[in-house]
Amino acid sequence: MRLKNKIAIITGAGAGIGRATALALAQQGAKIVVADWSEEQGQETVTQLKKQGTEAIFIKTDVSQAKDIEKMVETCLKEFNQIDILVNNAGIFHTSSIHETSEKDWDRVLNVNLKGVFLSSRRVIQEMLKQKKGKIINVASIAGLRGFEKSGAYCASKAGIINLTRVMALEYASQNINVNSVAPGIIKTAMTKEMLTDPATKKSFETSTPYSRLGKSEDIAEAIVYLASEESNFVNGETLVVDGGWTAK
Ligand SMILES: NC(=O)c1ccc[n+]([C@@H]2O[C@H](COP(=O)([O-])OP(=O)(O)OC[C@H]3O[C@@H](n4cnc5c(N)ncnc54)[C@H](O)[C@@H]3O)[C@@H](O)[C@H]2O)c1
Repeated sequence: MRLKNKIAIITGAGAGIGRATALALAQQGAKIVVADWSEEQGQETVTQLKKQGTEAIFIKTDVSQAKDIEKMVETCLKEFNQIDILVNNAGIFHTSSIHETSEKDWDRVLNVNLKGVFLSSRRVIQEMLKQKKGKIINVASIAGLRGFEKSGAYCASKAGIINLTRVMALEYASQNINVNSVAPGIIKTAMTKEMLTDPATKKSFETSTPYSRLGKSEDIAEAIVYLASEESNFVNGETLVVDGGWTAK
């Protein structure tokens, strides 16, 4: 087991990539803190983790709220005494052209996707500095590396995560805190469900991927396991693209 008895907080672990990551880290021996704003979905992940014999707790958390992050960290420390791994996965998508994007929608996307990463990393790093070690993995997107029409707020938030990752990697490498991102391609989850109902969109996503298939949450979870494990210790500030080759073109 590569993560035996490591304590991992995963935001947005109530569904999709976050839930798959919780299950994959647990398979490697980690104990899991499921932080999600949906109690029902988060509790379901905990149930699945417990079924496979993993110690796990749910903490209701909105990652865009500093007070929720404080509660998330304090509860984790009370229960498990340390934090070895933070996966900043919680995110939301919004589609609209720039001239039609309301200030409210822009703020909502940036607050969850980018400010959320800042708030949780800031608080967890305070603990990792005391422990003199830690691993942080941020879930970005290929939308942070390329422009996608009608996704300005989302693309900007994900590009922000990629550069914030580099900054955190530089600031804390000497303290043995390792920070990287993953950039998923198009993954079949609740987030993409609506856009994939249009057969033409689904087909165009599939044909843009050299493997001719959409990604699975497990494809991303395995990359996160690598970045959470000792094997990736010399990888730092990097964005691991997991897109079946989409951006290789
Ligand atoms: N699905 C894709 O194609 C894709 C591609 C690239 C990147 N991503 C990124 O992967 C991450 C996970 O996406 P997914 O596809 O699994 O989405 P999803 O919608 O299936 O799951 C997201 C989870 O995050 C939770 N969440 C949302 N906002 C939250 C908040 N403010 N606080 C706490 N929890 C919150 C939701 O309740 C849900 O459980 C996101 O950051 C997303 O941007 C997804």
